[in-house]
Amino acid sequence: MAGPSLTAQIWIDLRTFDSSRWQAPAMGQRELGRFAGAAVIITGGAHGIGRACAARLAEEGAHIVVADLDQTAAQQVASGLAPKDRSHVPVWLDVTDASSVERAFAEAISGLGGIDVLINVAGGDTNHGTFEETADEVWVSMIELNLLGVVRCCRAAIPYLRRSDKNPAIVNVSSVNALAALGSEPYSSAKAGIGALTINLAASLAADGIRVNTVAPATIRTRNWEGQQGGADRFRHLYPLGRVGEPEDVAAAVAFLASTDAAWITGHTLPVDGGLLTGARPEFQDGPL
Ligand SMILES: NC(=O)c1ccc[n+]([C@@H]2O[C@H](COP(=O)([O-])OP(=O)(O)OC[C@H]3O[C@@H](n4cnc5c(N)ncnc54)[C@H](O)[C@@H]3O)[C@@H](O)[C@H]2O)c1
Repeated sequence: MAGPSLTAQIWIDLRTFDSSRWQAPAMGQRELGRFAGAAVIITGGAHGIGRACAARLAEEGAHIVVADLDQTAAQQVASGLAPKDRSHVPVWLDVTDASSVERAFAEAISGLGGIDVLINVAGGDTNHGTFEETADEVWVSMIELNLLGVVRCCRAAIPYLRRSDKNPAIVNVSSVNALAALGSEPYSSAKAGIGALTINLAASLAADGIRVNTVAPATIRTRNWEGQQGGADRFRHLYPLGRVGEPEDVAAAVAFLASTDAAWITGHTLPVDGGLLTGARPEFQDGPL
């Protein structure tokens, strides 16, 4: 027996479709700050890329919920965000635990009254051996953290995003590992799943006016490279733009995709990669191989 068509779920009825939700912002709105008065929840907001996103969106007018496993650091980040008189709140959250995600979102809502933007940053890789040496437990933990963590936060946020009248959006942080063969198969595969999630949520949430996009950073100078010989800069020679990325490079791309400057962009994964994925290798630029 034929079931409902898959395409039917994402079919847009042009008779009832309200395209005014995708209009580019008027100049006056831009001058106020792209996130003026918006409530933004950032998972993994206590360190590195998430902290830079919190700083950037706060500067542009948002109220920030810093949602993180590291409660002390989340408190420090929230209390340091500008301006001091705006409500920025820390919330404890473990994205690998569904009940913790639900609790954290309920707490965030009671603090800020709603959610307009969700930024999914929490994630990371782990040390393991070669593909053949890597046990299922590593795969499960990487999928739990990097894919299901994003799924859980999207699921918790969507009912609130539907009620938002401030250009609701989701931006996920994936990795160039999802787009090129760079090793770390469990991490890379989990991050690649975010790309499929992004396309599908973008399609199914479009009629609600919710945009969904992803950024895929390459090497970004965060604490994860500290203590390793050569740190993040040991990869500098791979980058046509001559340096590794800073958390602020990713935050700028996240802010763009979350803002109405990207009002007509949904379902995409944007590499933030200093030219890595061009395939060019600066050491080969003196001539052909
Ligand atoms: N740094 C890089 O080179 C790089 C490159 C590509 C992608 N990324 C991705 O960017 C994101 C941030 O990376 P980063 O380098 O800023 O890392 P980071 O370790 O500095 O920050 C990660 C944050 O996530 C939080 N976190 C970790 N597990 C959590 C959990 N279960 N629940 C809630 N919060 C949790 C941490 O406490 C921390 O605040 C990750 O998803 C990572 O995979 C990083």
